[in-house]
Amino acid sequence: MKEQLFGKTADDKHIYLYTLENSNIKATVSNLGATLVSLLVRDKTGNWLDVVLGYDDVQQYLENTNTYFGGTVGRNANRIENALVAIEGINYRLPANEGENSLHSGPDGFQIRFWEVLKSNERQNGIEFELISPDKDQGFPGELKMTVIYELTDSGLTISFKGKSDQTTIFNPTNHSYFNLNGQGSGTILNHLLSLSADFYTPIKDSRGIPTGEKSLVAETPLDFRMAARIGQRINEPFEQLRLTGGYDHNFVLKKLGEGNEPFAKVIGDKSGIVMEVGTDLPCVQFYSGNFLQHEIGKNQAIYNERDGFCLETQYTPNGMNHGEERVPVIYPNHEITYRTTYNFSVSSDIF
Ligand code: BGC
Repeated sequence: MKEQLFGKTADDKHIYLYTLENSNIKATVSNLGATLVSLLVRDKTGNWLDVVLGYDDVQQYLENTNTYFGGTVGRNANRIENALVAIEGINYRLPANEGENSLHSGPDGFQIRFWEVLKSNERQNGIEFELISPDKDQGFPGELKMTVIYELTDSGLTISFKGKSDQTTIFNPTNHSYFNLNGQGSGTILNHLLSLSADFYTPIKDSRGIPTGEKSLVAETPLDFRMAARIGQRINEPFEQLRLTGGYDHNFVLKKLGEGNEPFAKVIGDKSGIVMEVGTDLPCVQFYSGNFLQHEIGKNQAIYNERDGFCLETQYTPNGMNHGEERVPVIYPNHEITYRTTYNFSVSSDIF
């Protein structure tokens, strides 16, 4: 594993880049935010392409806190209505950072925290980051010990999220990578081909993105990706749910519950032929088509505009605790829980 100084935080903490590589994949991660900074895979001609958006320096990661490029989001991914949540009958007020709601756990998210590298657990093909989040951190109860493990497989990457708390609390982590399978900085993702094996999605109430609490069928809507379709094919249809968020920014219920890492999504870069398959043991995924990106200056001076990257953020149903969702991201004292999301890469020479 290669290690390189990336920069320093204001309180003089050293931030490093760590590169894991094999003949098919090179992943660079950082102890700032346990972030995936770059992910190089081979395109259909055998050239390496970096398929994730990101920044060139530590300062940009620390200043641009609304993009969450490649970062580890915790303790809670996605939105909590009115920044208020009840756990075992007790109400916890969280810092609001999107109107009156909490998004990705408020202004002091895990994606801008300093994570320890667990050297003792150093692996040949992986790296483990640890964060101790004290009791009442971000408003949540319990001291949470969280670890994020990045591990290369022959043809991909697995991210594992482990959480253990001394009190009942919420643990709903995700990785917030924006992918562009034609290469970061190469423009739109609207011509990528997506299939998403979800029959239901969680409609939102309004442009603030809080779910109504219902599950709606994707059938006969532009949110139906059970058959592969270009991301942009129906994105501008006059469908109220898409209008509210300027494109896709919705949570889908995954079919293969508890079945480990079966892929639930397959995406193909139209120019590169790069195929990414994503699997998870988490119950849902937020599919976000990068609608709010606007002239964001990224790696190598690339400029990212709206829909120049997409996210598939594996997680629990947003705000599920507040609308009586059956499965909620609660963890119990001293019981470690692990979630895993895998990304597998190959190439397709199909013309489409
Ligand atoms: C949300 C988007 C938000 C983005 C960056 C996504 O998880 O669903 O609404 O703009 O994160 O904050």
